[in-house]
Amino acid sequence: MTQHICTMDELPEFGSLELKVNGNACFAVRQGQEIYLYRNICPHLGLPLNLMPDQFLDYDKRYIQCTSHGALFKIGTGLCVVGPCQGKSLQSLACEVREGMVFLTEDALAKSAESENE
Ligand code: FES
Repeated sequence: MTQHICTMDELPEFGSLELKVNGNACFAVRQGQEIYLYRNICPHLGLPLNLMPDQFLDYDKRYIQCTSHGALFKIGTGLCVVGPCQGKSLQSLACEVREGMVFLTEDALAKSAESENE
């Protein structure tokens, strides 16, 4: 079983979207036809990364940016490459795209349910 989380049309081609997955704050980043899904928790102080709705990318749209202290994360892996949590990573959730719709994979679904019970 998989869980539908959004459609490709809801995500700008090189942009980001804030969403809830099983009650957890998350965001998706689209790079062309690739989608990356992360929990909205910065590994530095555990704060949400964004201040503005749906805004998770830096000015050039090359990195995910935490607005609190400016940490930059690779879009494809969630690894922090600049900032106070350099070397740490965002929590990713595996997703897949089918017929223009984005689904959380079975494995990610189980992980998000686990974190819901923490
Ligand atoms: S809380 Fe994200 S860089 Fe400090």
